[in-house]
Amino acid sequence: MNMRDVILKKKAGEALTREEIRAFARGAADGSVPDYQLAALLMAICWRGMNAEETAALTMEMMHTGGVVDLSEVGGVCVDKHSTGGVGDTTTLVLVPLAAACGAEGAKLSGRGLGHTGGTLDKLESIPGCTVDMSRADFIRQVQRIGCAVIGQTHDLCPADKALYALRDVTGTVDSVPLIASSIVSKKLASGAGAIVLDVKTGSGALMQTLEDAIALAQAMVEIGVQAGKPIYALVTGMDQPLGTHVGNALEVKEAIDILSGRAGGDLLEVSLALGSRMLVAAGVAADAAQGRARMTQALRSGAGLEKLREMIAAQGGDARVCDDVTRLPQAAHVIPVTAQADGYVSRMDTAKIGYCAQALGAGRQKKADVIDPAVGLVMDVRLGDYVRAGERIATLHVNRPELAQNAAGQLREAIALSPQRPELPPLIHAAVSHAGVRRYTKGEESL
Ligand code: URA
Ligand code: CA
Repeated sequence: MNMRDVILKKKAGEALTREEIRAFARGAADGSVPDYQLAALLMAICWRGMNAEETAALTMEMMHTGGVVDLSEVGGVCVDKHSTGGVGDTTTLVLVPLAAACGAEGAKLSGRGLGHTGGTLDKLESIPGCTVDMSRADFIRQVQRIGCAVIGQTHDLCPADKALYALRDVTGTVDSVPLIASSIVSKKLASGAGAIVLDVKTGSGALMQTLEDAIALAQAMVEIGVQAGKPIYALVTGMDQPLGTHVGNALEVKEAIDILSGRAGGDLLEVSLALGSRMLVAAGVAADAAQGRARMTQALRSGAGLEKLREMIAAQGGDARVCDDVTRLPQAAHVIPVTAQADGYVSRMDTAKIGYCAQALGAGRQKKADVIDPAVGLVMDVRLGDYVRAGERIATLHVNRPELAQNAAGQLREAIALSPQRPELPPLIHAAVSHAGVRRYTKGEESL
């Protein structure tokens, strides 16, 4: 295969064959195609796009460049849930225990924080003793015994994606629907999911900032599922403000425990119930989303979800007493209020900037080798549409290095716009995308 011909073909806007796509994926994984040719083809794909067959072929070829996990021993349909990444977005720690308490197995391979977004593995590791490294056999045994496990990748999954993602990052070729869709879905398929529920974020803290781009990405991923014979269902949800009120690792674990204990609620719970109800449908445990939601709500009220989280933490070596006493989680040495400097309605948030603010305090990594501080982060006191007066608290910083607080407070104030007019609030759940099509929601009708 002459890679130059493949590049010329895509540059001219033609569709690539399966064999050409295979040569591209394998060449990325084994290094036999040089980076400059990979980068040229990535840029041509950015400009010219890929049709549904090409996108599915790229996904399957990337998936087969590495190991593929077999979860059939678990029995039943293992439903995976994946978010395209957000701030204060700890739905996994809320919905995996709730879904498991309802009888839907959750065997989840999660990731670490990236840029301004948090990662479930870092959050779990903030629980004293909790590990996310486990052999495949132990992982499957845990899922069989208690119905859920959340760990890091045990295999070298999708080496083609690792190589291509690193190149995309430095060549300005991240924002392409077929490239993002194939990157995400190849990893999900390689990690053994029987069905996939996707949370595609849109708004100021999301990869896809506009609703139309987010819907296009959701449609591309659902279509790959159709081509690959795996059910994929997507919700497009708002990331116009942090989803929960807590941003940071132990802080987000605390919020998940508060929700599962019935002490907290809000948008994080809403999105968790909406995604979880679809997981129950995909697992065959509920007939429809309304029934799924009713069962999830029942598991929340009865405390069965919190009990599942307790079992999962204990099974992964962690101190499950955090579920009864959140002060056993790592605590920051300094808690510093941030106050508003003017009166006004909270009219817009730069959610990515809020995520970077928590990262700068030590909650995330700036470089891959950085060590995160599990205790630090921030807690938001305001949501979009709230009215605040000058001097009122809008957030609280949790810091271990007080010298970072002043800059963080400034960043946070800049990220929260105040205006004299009451803003129009966006819906929390914008759309549901399945093989049957796109259903858009307006504000107020989105809970199902
Ligand atoms: N997340 C991924 O895994 N891949 C992308 O391309 C973008 C987000
Ligand atoms: Ca996540």
